[in-house]
Amino acid sequence: MFTVRTVSDLRAAVGGWKRAGERVAFVPTMGNLHAGHHSLVTLARRQADRVVASVFVNPTQFGPNEDFGRYPRTPDADAAGLADAGCDVMFLPGVEQMYPFGAERCVGVHVPGLTDVMDGAHRPGHFDGVATVVLRLFNMVQPDLAVFGRKDFQQFRVIEYLVRDLSLPVTLIAGETRREDDGLAMSSRNQYLSPEERARAPEIHRTLQFMREAARRQVPPAAIAAEAGKRLTAAGFVVDYAELRRAEDLAPAVAGDAGVVAFVAARLGSTRLIDNLAL
Ligand code: PAF
Repeated sequence: MFTVRTVSDLRAAVGGWKRAGERVAFVPTMGNLHAGHHSLVTLARRQADRVVASVFVNPTQFGPNEDFGRYPRTPDADAAGLADAGCDVMFLPGVEQMYPFGAERCVGVHVPGLTDVMDGAHRPGHFDGVATVVLRLFNMVQPDLAVFGRKDFQQFRVIEYLVRDLSLPVTLIAGETRREDDGLAMSSRNQYLSPEERARAPEIHRTLQFMREAARRQVPPAAIAAEAGKRLTAAGFVVDYAELRRAEDLAPAVAGDAGVVAFVAARLGSTRLIDNLAL
């Protein structure tokens, strides 16, 4: 595996593969990679001849009071992990490569509708930043397919909309959420947790399991959401949302809906965690 830092070096590598008829998979990341990311690279490897992974902590998807400054940056460890997982190229751009006119003066993308709820409502502008950087990355890498984690379910839906609405020639693949033994979804943000918070954090997964169980017992979605919120609050979380929505369009689930997903976003101290579980 080798590392490229500029769009022109990236294009030289990918262009050579494409001229040789090879299929290129892409795994976009913000770095500080863990086993969940590595499994996305493994999945990409199975679907394509070549794999590119990007490592870029994207300033446009962080709000003013969020963790952009302290987001862990570990490029050496990321390179080692990506190489082991079968990546061919790590794209490690600086902000001047991603945003030549500066992040404040960039051409932006807004995906309507899907971004009005859940994380879109609690993190204003977040998905504009995600859609903007993903479109740029797709344009730079020009992959045949791209792999994203299912843990960021709403993000996946937003990117699907982006791809479909702009007729981008990229096939999207969702990789399963990797969990610690106690059920906590793997996330770079888990390392912000104190030992005491880390011990409480698996309550998110337990609550999602409770939501799934209750839905199977035909408990109405609003009652499930209310009980889930209570459980998390009692465990010391500040809850942004705990609710059931339709996977298809993220509309609130109503009794009898098929294809429903339980979603939670909640904070422990200054750490915000998200997770979801398909029913
Ligand atoms: O899921 C992430 O890590 C980021 O939102 C992404 C897709 C790499 C865009 O910065």
